[in-house]
This record gives sequence, structure tokens and C-alpha cells, in this order.
Amino acid sequence: MKQPIGVFDSGLGGLTVLSAIHELLPHEDLIYFGDTARVPYGNKSRETVIRYSLEILDFLLQKNVKAVVVACNTASAQALETLKEKSPVPVLGVVEPGVKALLKNYPSIKKAAVIATRSTVKSRAYQQSLKQKKADLDVIEKACPLLVPLVEEGYSDHAVTRLILQEYLQELVEQGFEHVILGCTHYPLLKKAIREIYPKLKLIDAAQEVARELREFLEATNLISNKNELGTIRLYVSDITESIAELEKLFFGKTIRSLEKVVLGL
Ligand code: DGL
Repeated sequence: MKQPIGVFDSGLGGLTVLSAIHELLPHEDLIYFGDTARVPYGNKSRETVIRYSLEILDFLLQKNVKAVVVACNTASAQALETLKEKSPVPVLGVVEPGVKALLKNYPSIKKAAVIATRSTVKSRAYQQSLKQKKADLDVIEKACPLLVPLVEEGYSDHAVTRLILQEYLQELVEQGFEHVILGCTHYPLLKKAIREIYPKLKLIDAAQEVARELREFLEATNLISNKNELGTIRLYVSDITESIAELEKLFFGKTIRSLEKVVLGL
């Protein structure tokens, strides 16, 4: 199937998910949309996140995508149901795969922590999904609004970031939480810093599980690419900012050659 897969995020953090998809499904053509003009979504209202997400869905559908991955926890938490209702193609979020990755790897856990943006925490999407699958699980969700800007500034491995991480995580550790879902697509870049401070914490990142679920789905529906050559990656953003090239490298490991600006919501 020659159609591309659409992946979107509020900004470029979702490139961590795109990277996992590209690794597992190297022959798929991928289209990524990063809403760099309107990022962050993490402190916006549900109504606004839904409106922005629907605009992006429309854009990706115009590109003839065969499936859409919402590589943003905030949009997954706030807009996934609406996107699924409105979309003629399947839509996958990152919340369920994150929850699945946790429970698959640690089926007998008693306590689970989720760190995320304010908006994701407010939605209680993780709380609900975890409790639905394991009613007796003690779940704590913690909003960590300073982490996204620190990562974007290239401060993932900085003393200031370690201090802020301690500010957010210390109370969870003291309360005996050992498993932490990284409920924001920027946070996988903080794994190293978190492990340095709290080597015993188990950090759960949804990216690989998202890629696995996407592959399963494409195989089951016969939509998987049968190309032999490597798939193409096209990057669209709503604003070309000075830091784009740096952020691409940070979240994706290299610069994507095809970059175009698209303004939505006019
Ligand atoms: N990518 C967003 C998420 O995963 C974080 C950035 C934002 O607040 O928009 O929640």
C-alpha cells in the first residue's frame, strides 16, 4: 500500500515517536505535522486542542494518509475520541500504548506514576485507562510544566534540569512509586538525567509500543507497505522557527530533508 502514514504533534517532540515508527517500519512513507506556530498544547483548553487537532487531521487526510498517529500526549488525551469519530482512516494515540507498555512489562505492579503536561493530567486520560485495566492500581499523575521548555532549550542534561526533575519526582519516589510513565513526547529525552538521579525508577516510554501497534494494525488490514526501498519522510510545520533544525536533530537524530510550512486554521 503506497499511501503514507500521518503523524502529528503540537511541535517537534513527536519526532521521538516518528523515529520509533521509522525504525520498525522503514519502508513506510511518513508525513509529520508539527504545529510549531501554536505549540505548546499542554496549557491550552480541551476545546482548543480539539480544534487544532481536527485541523491537522484534515491536512493529513488531504495528503491521502492511510492512518494517523497522534504523537502528542496532550492531543491524545483531549482529542482522540473526536478524531476517531471524524476520521475515515484509523487514528492511534499514545496514551493507550503507554499504559499497555507499563502493564505488559510489569503486570503485578501496585503503584504507577504518570508525568505529563498540565492538560494531559487534567484530562485524567491515563488515570482512567490504568484504572480500567487494573482497578486496584494506585495511580498518581504529576504535571511537570517546566520540562518541555527545558528540553527544547537543549537543557536535557543540565544541572538546572536535574534540580527541576528532583522538584517534580522526589515526592513520588518518597511515596514509593517506582514505575513512571513518560506521558509527554518530550520526556524520553530526559531518561538519562532521570536515571542519573533515580537509577531504580522504571521509565515507560510509549514510542516503541505505538510503532508495534501500528505495524500490527497495518499487517492485519493488509495496508503495510510492500516497497523495497526506504520510505520517505516529509516534515510539515505551521511556523519555520530558528530552532527547527536543532530540534529535529534533538528529537529525531538527524535533519529531515523535506521541510515545508503550512498555515492551518485561516
Ligand atoms: N507534545 C506535547 C505532549 O506530548 C508536549 C508539548 C506541548 O505542551 O504541546 O504532551
